[in-house]
Amino acid sequence: MKRKEKIIIDTDPGIDDAAAIIIALNHPELDVRLITTVMGNVNVDYTTNNALKLVEFCGKDVPIARGADSPLIREYEDASYAHGETGMDGYNFPEPKKNILNVHAVEALRNTIEIEKDPITLVAIGAYTNIALLIKLYPEVAKKVKRIVIMGGSLSIGNTTSSAEFNVYADPHAAEIMFKSGIPIVMVGLDVTTKALLSFDSVVSIKDSGRTGAMLHDIFKHYRSATMTNGLRMHDACAILYLVHPELFETKEMFIEICTEGPAMGATVGDIRNAYHDGKTNTTVCTDLDIDSFNNWFVDFIKNIDN
Ligand code: RIB
Ligand code: CA
Repeated sequence: MKRKEKIIIDTDPGIDDAAAIIIALNHPELDVRLITTVMGNVNVDYTTNNALKLVEFCGKDVPIARGADSPLIREYEDASYAHGETGMDGYNFPEPKKNILNVHAVEALRNTIEIEKDPITLVAIGAYTNIALLIKLYPEVAKKVKRIVIMGGSLSIGNTTSSAEFNVYADPHAAEIMFKSGIPIVMVGLDVTTKALLSFDSVVSIKDSGRTGAMLHDIFKHYRSATMTNGLRMHDACAILYLVHPELFETKEMFIEICTEGPAMGATVGDIRNAYHDGKTNTTVCTDLDIDSFNNWFVDFIKNIDN
């Protein structure tokens, strides 16, 4: 039996985050040690409450810590246009009974990374503010991180501005600190996640597969990243897919830099020919993914969660 990978999920649920969290909490190869929340799709009160609802929905005992409520420097801008006011409308979750940890997410990250004897993987699927604060406040602890697998960035066009993907755009200064940290980064960006379209038939097929499929179907109806007819973009689930099936991705080692100001603010600039940094690289960039393999994996997994 393959040893479970210990992970911490830093997230801004958010409808596509919800799918990623549900899969991670139920995947036999993953051991979720902590969930930390951050502002992003919606404000951190909503993202934290949504994380509580998801962990309780799954009946898992995973600690949750509330994180940053604003970017390091720029103004907070949400994505409620895509995720709805609460970030997870459409399903009547009971009010959570579970409490969050009484420490800030950065302290929870530090404590969890220090306690674990094995190096832990951070899965960052929201703005990287908590990660940047960990790196700045506790650099020695950050060095113990095995790798950071992010949903974010793009070698081509953006989804928030013409050049910026939302998670990087939400806090570009945090992204810059993370990419400069020296911690190995896997960038699961729009180059692959815009291909991870959950087809209309796939969404319909999970609806009657059990309580989890029914819940996801209901919240997907409120998701405005693409449409039910031409497919829903499951950006964050791709980061989880990378953890458990990296062979489904094409990747390229590259040096990534972040634009932190100006019209390209939030752009992830890749030295694609490795020509400008003496051959140095800081990121494994996912450059391709087979859409059918994603759809089949996603649907099969959700359909079997409740069996
Ligand atoms: O650009 C897509 C990313 O921004 C996803 O993580 C989505 O949840 C939003 O946070
Ligand atoms: Ca997200």
